[in-house]
Amino acid sequence: MRKSLTFAAALLLASAANAHEQNELFFRVGAASVQPDASSGSVLGGGVDVKNDTNLGFTGTWFINKHWGVEVLAALPFSHDIVGTGALKGVDIGSTKHLPPTVSVQYYPLDGETFQPYVGLGVNYTNFFKTNASSTLDTALGGKSDISLSYSTGLAYQVGADWKITENIYVNAAVWKIDIDTTADINVNGKRAASVDVQIDPTVFMLGVGFKY
Ligand code: NI
Repeated sequence: MRKSLTFAAALLLASAANAHEQNELFFRVGAASVQPDASSGSVLGGGVDVKNDTNLGFTGTWFINKHWGVEVLAALPFSHDIVGTGALKGVDIGSTKHLPPTVSVQYYPLDGETFQPYVGLGVNYTNFFKTNASSTLDTALGGKSDISLSYSTGLAYQVGADWKITENIYVNAAVWKIDIDTTADINVNGKRAASVDVQIDPTVFMLGVGFKY
């Protein structure tokens, strides 16, 4: 009797150690690739596209209980080339940097954590900075040009999974689809030349390691 009770207690401890726990902090770090699916309104007879970039991404999840968590996504700044499409195809328009902080509520369906998939729904705030117009654009517009991009707030959808490798180390893969829309104001010699709405709407892929704290 005593032996089986001890055995049951040991099993209970083992299974408890195998689930995320209330107030647990779980961190992930890895390579994050931001791949815009960009489209824009018509501008200067053409359109604009935004190219991919990869940098270091970080996430931290605080577990409300073993099935629900709140995640913050952060990263080093991403830098994207902005190029022309349509009649502007081949034109190097400029570049911009951004940070895409995203806060998501996540659901972890499984009790164990040897393999743990999850889904998330969140809110993204994207601020663009160091937006530069190229000398090609200066030439095309016949003056000193500059571009400014308005900030964006939108929804973010996420799926991901963690695979347990050792007691505290996990391999993580995650994908976000983020609604990022901005307005690009293009000025020439300080005067507004054009204004265009740009849907950036990137898919973000992250592959890295996770660990409990
Ligand atoms: Ni959008």
